[in-house]
Amino acid sequence: MATIEKILITGASGYLARFIIDRLHGAYRLTLTDIVEPERIPENTTFIQADVTNASEIEAACADQDAVVHLVALVRGRSGKPASLFADVMVKGTWNVAEACVQQGVRKLVNISSISACPPAPSAKLPYEVSDDFQFGPGDLYYSLAKYLGERIGAAYHQARGLDVIHVRPGVIAGDGQNPGPTAPDVVTGPWFVYVDPRDVAQCVARAIETETVSYGAYNAVAGRTDSRFSWQQAADDLGYSPEHNWPEIPEDET
Ligand SMILES: NC(=O)c1ccc[n+]([C@@H]2O[C@H](COP(=O)([O-])OP(=O)(O)OC[C@H]3O[C@@H](n4cnc5c(N)ncnc54)[C@H](O)[C@@H]3O)[C@@H](O)[C@H]2O)c1
Repeated sequence: MATIEKILITGASGYLARFIIDRLHGAYRLTLTDIVEPERIPENTTFIQADVTNASEIEAACADQDAVVHLVALVRGRSGKPASLFADVMVKGTWNVAEACVQQGVRKLVNISSISACPPAPSAKLPYEVSDDFQFGPGDLYYSLAKYLGERIGAAYHQARGLDVIHVRPGVIAGDGQNPGPTAPDVVTGPWFVYVDPRDVAQCVARAIETETVSYGAYNAVAGRTDSRFSWQQAADDLGYSPEHNWPEIPEDET
């Protein structure tokens, strides 16, 4: 496969995107897109304002790109928003991005999903692997379901159109201004740690861009701890993911 040189980042004005931009800038030619302008645009980087729900806008943004890192989602303040908005922004938006990749000859889509895409079923063993049983719960259903459907869209475009698709499933991103960050529970009853440092998510994205051996897969991107609720082993084995920011000040439970 020819080398990836040009990457479009959607949701580029958001919190996680800034760490991904920092990680990829310099190694690749980046184009940023979002519905709002980012606070800072690094040098040699282009910004294209586009609404991911508008197919022609997102297709134009994908022109001449080798890969797309897709981050747009309803994240902040999503509680109370209607199902139709999740369907528009996250499901239709991801479908628009996958279709735009194919129409514009983009070779690889790195889709930022979430550990919420497939919530572990009560019967699932922990730490949870991406192929284990899952079951949706009552909380945050629209977001979880939209993430799950986003992954299904990626799978269909891989199977039917030959697009390389890697879903990166971050854990709870510490420091995003919404999540308080980890504190050890008083009583530990099993693997509980669900957090990830955004710099490690960015590392996982970089590995997903670099791999020439994986053309499709879903990978948990979480902290590298023995008490992680989600397993990162597959990401390590397949992509070379090696989390570096693992909260050593919080004791790890070995049970
Ligand atoms: N924050 C977390 O804890 C967490 C955990 C797991 C996965 N994720 C995923 O990581 C990604 C980034 O999350 P974040 O925390 O940076 O969120 P964020 O809200 O900071 O970024 C989302 C970006 O999407 C943009 N956007 C929204 N609607 C749009 C539209 N119609 N068209 C174009 N752009 C639009 C927003 O302007 C924003 O810049 C998301 O896919 C999210 O689901 C986040």
